[in-house]
Amino acid sequence: MKRISIFLLLVSALSSCSDGPVQPDREKDSVYTRKADSVLGLMTLEEKIGQTVLFTSGWDVTGPSMDPNYKTYLKNGNVGAVFNAFTTEYNRELQRIAVEETRLGIPLMFGYDVIHGHRTIFPIPLGESASWDLDLMEKTARIAAVEASAEGINWTFAPMVDVARDARWGRIAEGAGEDTYLGSLIAVARVKGFQGDDLSASNTILACAKHYAAYGAAMAGRDYNTVDMSENELRTTYLPPFKAALDAGVATFMNSFNDLNGVPATGNSFLLRDILKGEWDFDGFVVTDYTSINEMVPHGYARDEKHAGEIAMNAGVDMDMQGGIYMKYLKASIEEGKVEESDLDDAVRRILEMKFRLGLFDDPYHYLDADREKELVLNDEHLEVARDAARKSMVLLKNDNAVLPLSEDKKVALIGPLVKDEKNIIGNWAAAGDRNGTAVSVYEAFEARFGKEDLLFAEGCKVLGDDTSGFDEAVAAARKADVVVMVLGELEGMTGEAASRTDINLPGKQKALIAAVKATGKPVVLVLMNGRPLSLEWENDTADAIVEAWWPGTMGGHAVADVLYGDYNPSGKLTVSFPRTVGQLPLFYNHKNTGRPIPPDDPDQKYVSRYLYTPNTPLYPFGYGLSYTSYSYNATADKKTITPSDTLEVTVKVTNMGERDGEEVVQLYLRDKVASVTPPVRSLKRFEKVAVKKGQTRELTFRLTADDLKFYNEDLEFVHEPGVFELFVGANSDCPLVHTFELVEE
Ligand code: BGC
Repeated sequence: MKRISIFLLLVSALSSCSDGPVQPDREKDSVYTRKADSVLGLMTLEEKIGQTVLFTSGWDVTGPSMDPNYKTYLKNGNVGAVFNAFTTEYNRELQRIAVEETRLGIPLMFGYDVIHGHRTIFPIPLGESASWDLDLMEKTARIAAVEASAEGINWTFAPMVDVARDARWGRIAEGAGEDTYLGSLIAVARVKGFQGDDLSASNTILACAKHYAAYGAAMAGRDYNTVDMSENELRTTYLPPFKAALDAGVATFMNSFNDLNGVPATGNSFLLRDILKGEWDFDGFVVTDYTSINEMVPHGYARDEKHAGEIAMNAGVDMDMQGGIYMKYLKASIEEGKVEESDLDDAVRRILEMKFRLGLFDDPYHYLDADREKELVLNDEHLEVARDAARKSMVLLKNDNAVLPLSEDKKVALIGPLVKDEKNIIGNWAAAGDRNGTAVSVYEAFEARFGKEDLLFAEGCKVLGDDTSGFDEAVAAARKADVVVMVLGELEGMTGEAASRTDINLPGKQKALIAAVKATGKPVVLVLMNGRPLSLEWENDTADAIVEAWWPGTMGGHAVADVLYGDYNPSGKLTVSFPRTVGQLPLFYNHKNTGRPIPPDDPDQKYVSRYLYTPNTPLYPFGYGLSYTSYSYNATADKKTITPSDTLEVTVKVTNMGERDGEEVVQLYLRDKVASVTPPVRSLKRFEKVAVKKGQTRELTFRLTADDLKFYNEDLEFVHEPGVFELFVGANSDCPLVHTFELVEE
C-alpha cells in the first residue's frame, strides 16, 4: 500500500504538467512520453510484460476464451487491459483490483467492440455509410462513445476501415464499402466521433483503426483467408483509410488475421515498423486481433507459440489480445536475446501514454459513474438520432409506378419472417444492444401508426429452412390487402465475422414466398434487412418496389415506416455495388479497363473481357439510390487546361424536378485517360449531400487541383502526370461525362 501512495504521488506531480487534446501534438506528446517513462522506470520486466496483455473478461467472446483465470492475472499485475467487460459495477471491481491490489496500481483500460452503438444501436456501418452523411456518422460514433464510456468502456475496437469489394465476405457489413476515398472520409468521421477532442474527458474513448491491413481482400471472400497483392494496390486502395484515421488522431491500430504477400499481418514488420511506425510516425499502440499471434503457427510462419511472440514483438505489435503469448513467453525471449527489452519498453510506453491521455492515472474510476450510466444509456435523444440514422441509411432500389410512398388509406399486409423481428434488426456486432424487445420491429412501428386491430400479418416462412406451410396464410393476407410489404433478408449471424457465403441470394424459401404473394396480383414492396449486397436480379424483376434497409438498429421499425409512408424521402446511396450474381465477385466500380473492354456499340462481341450470359455491370451500381422525387443535373467546368498550380472549378446545378423536398448525394468522378500505371475507369473525387426543395435548383462548386490527379507510379511515388482527364457528374457512379481537361506542366 505504501508503495502505491508513493507511486500515485509521483504520478500526480507529473500529471499536473499538462492535460490535453488527443490530436497529435508533439509538445504534449513529449509530456505524455515523460509521464509514461516515469512509470516505466519503476517497473519490473514482468510488470512491463503485464501491460502488453489484453484478456477478455469472459462475458462475451468472439473466439475460444483462452483462460478463465483473468482475475488472478489481474492481481498479479499480468494484465494491462480487459475487454468485453462493461457496466459501472462490474468494471469498478476489476479496476479496484488493478489499482489497489497490484504493486504499482496501474489502472486498466477497458476495450469493447462498440461498432455501431453501445446500447442504442445505429444501422450497421455498411448501412450507415449509405447515408453519405459524415456529420451523422460522427454523431452516431459520438453517442456510442457517450454510452459506452458511461458503462466503463474507454476503448472501442472501431472503426473498421477495411475496403471491401466482395459481398461473400461477411465482414463487409462492418465497413464503409468499396471506395477508398469515401471510406477514408468515413474513417475520419468515426474516429472524431469516438475520440472527441479531449481523450481525458469521461465521455470520449480511444478508437482503433482495424484490421491492418488488406483484410477486406481475403481471397474468394472467405474470412481470414490469404491476401496477395502488389504494393501499388495496397497503397492505392487499402491503406489510405488507415492513414486518414491516423491523421485524425486515432489512438490505436489492430492488425488483421490475414497474411499479406506471405507474411501474416501480425508479424509483418513492413506494415508495422516500416509503414505505420516509420513512414507514418504513428505514436499510439498496436493491438493484435484475437489470438492472431498464436495463429502464426498454423499460418506456417512460426515454429511454435514462443517463436510467434518473438516475431510479433519484433515486428512492432505492442499488445497481445487474448493470445497469452507475451505473458507466457516474452520474458524468456528477452532473456535469451531473441527480443530486445527496448522494444518491449517502447510498447509499454505507448500503452501507458494512452492511459495517461485517458486521464486514468488522475482518476482510474472516472469512467465509472452509475448516475451517468442511468441517465445516458438509451436516452430519448440517442433514440431519435438512431431513427434518423436508420432512415438516412435506407436505399430505395426500385419504385415502379410510384408504389411508394404508401398512402395511409391503403390496406397493407405485412408479410415475412422479419416483420416482427426484434433480434436481427440490430444487426451483427451490436455491442450491448438488446435482442429481446428493446428494438422496434416493423410490426410495432405499424402498430404505433395504425393500432393492432387494423394490421394484416403473416410470417410466411422462416429466413432459413424449407418449410412453406405458412404460404397459404401469407397469400390469404395478401388477398385482403391493397398492397403488400414483405420484410425479408438474412439472419444477423449470416454476416459479420466468420460468416462468409458462397450464395448471396435471399436465403431459405423467401424467394418462393415472394413469388406466391406476387401471384395474387397485389403490388409487392420488399423491405430487405441484410448485411451485404445480395443478388437481387429476380427480385428486381418481380417486386414493384425494393427498399434496402440493412440492419437498421434499435429504431429500425420506425425508420422503415417513415420511409414507406414518405415521412422521410429516401436519400441513401449504395457504397458497394450490388452484383447480379455471386459469380461477378469481387465487383467494384473503379476497376481497370483491360485491353479488351466490351465495346459499347457491340456488347456481344466474343473476344472481350466478359462473362458468357451475364453482363459485367452490377445490378445496382456504387452510388445508386432512388428518391420519391427526381433530380436533373447540369455541370460545367471553368478550364480546358490546368497546370499543377491551378484549381479547376466544377459547377453543378442540381434541380429537384418532382413534387417532394429531398436530399441528393451529388457525385463527381474522374478518369485519367492515360497514365504510366493503368488507371481505373473512374474514381470518386468529390461528393456533397444537399437538401433540395421541390422545384429548387441548388448550385455546388467542386474544386480540383493536380493533387486530385495523383496516383502511385511504378516506383511507388505519388505523382501526377500531364495528360487528359475526364469528369463525370451525377447521381451514381454510372453518371455521364461532363467535361474533359488537360493537365500540362507549368
Ligand atoms: C475480430 C475483431 C474484434 C475482436 C475482439 C476478433 O475476432 O476480428 O474485429 O475487435 O475479435 O472482439
